[in-house]
Amino acid sequence: MVASASKCRVCKEPAIIDLPRHNANFCAEHFLELCRRQVVKAIEKFDMLSKDDNILVAVSGGKDSLAVWDILVDLGYQADGLYIGLGIGDYSDVSGEYAKSFASERGLNLITIDLRAEYGYDIPTAAKATRRVPCSACGTSKRHLFDKAALDGGYTVLVTGHNLDDEAAVLFGNTLRWDVEYLSRQLPVLPARNGFPKKVKPLIRLTEREMAAWCIVRGIDYLVDECPMAVGNKHLAYKAALNAIEQQSSGAKASFYLNFLDNMAPLLAGRSAAATDELGTCTSCGAPTTSDLCAFCRTAEKARAHEPVPVELVLSRGRRRR
Ligand code: AMP
Ligand code: FES
Ligand code: ZN
Ligand code: ZN
Repeated sequence: MVASASKCRVCKEPAIIDLPRHNANFCAEHFLELCRRQVVKAIEKFDMLSKDDNILVAVSGGKDSLAVWDILVDLGYQADGLYIGLGIGDYSDVSGEYAKSFASERGLNLITIDLRAEYGYDIPTAAKATRRVPCSACGTSKRHLFDKAALDGGYTVLVTGHNLDDEAAVLFGNTLRWDVEYLSRQLPVLPARNGFPKKVKPLIRLTEREMAAWCIVRGIDYLVDECPMAVGNKHLAYKAALNAIEQQSSGAKASFYLNFLDNMAPLLAGRSAAATDELGTCTSCGAPTTSDLCAFCRTAEKARAHEPVPVELVLSRGRRRR
């Protein structure tokens, strides 16, 4: 990760990581300190969490969500985890194992939900049945189950592991289309409203690489593989484009996203239809929605009516298309 002669900016001991964005190298201890500081800064600036909050962290078994859970507990927050088994073949089985081991090794409470066992469908089947890209059925299912688990469990806030790379890539996509509605909603804190829990993203000031390093230094085992159904999606292409820019100009990614929050997001406040929409109630599950059935129930209904589709079938179909 770093040239062997490099020294930590703080203590001058040998460094384990170079962070060109901060124009510095760090030893393990001071790298962890920097990460904690970045999370505290995000939490304080956006009023994300307080020590009285009863927090639910959505954990996928990947580095970011396990790292954010670890950091919050380390900072003294009260936080349980939530893992959703999406039924994406081996990927889901293995990711669930990482989430469960992390929780049990640390004596933390992990809520688990299995989409197939509890709702009668899985993501590959939903993708086929709705004829949409897998990430769309997946996002709809996850968002609904995050909200429901947080509200049912009496949690005051739901945390996700979205990091700077994720948020910058979404911003890039929204900006390429000048999607003002989406841009106005792209905030790291969504307050509780209309039957939705408060949702926050404490990792917005930290990158994927930094979160991988956090996990390595802290001895956290995580699933390295990306979701097989996400291969080839636009989000990954936007991340690659931003990484190419970052290579040429350190700090460009952080200023693209963080300056959006400082300079642009306030100008867009109030432009979001969702903030003012009067929402009704889903006739099937009671969740807030603009139509009779919420997006989750529509997806679940279609998927349950379809014969189960193994993940390989959805993947091979995707490959043929490209
Ligand atoms: P993704 O949409 O896969 O980029 O994931 C974004 C965030 O959603 C992660 O950092 C987690 O906080 C959460 N998440 C993703 N997949 C799951 C899952 N299967 N169970 C619980 N939380 C998840
Ligand atoms: Fe949702 Fe891959 S995790 S489609
Ligand atoms: Zn040091
Ligand atoms: Zn519903």
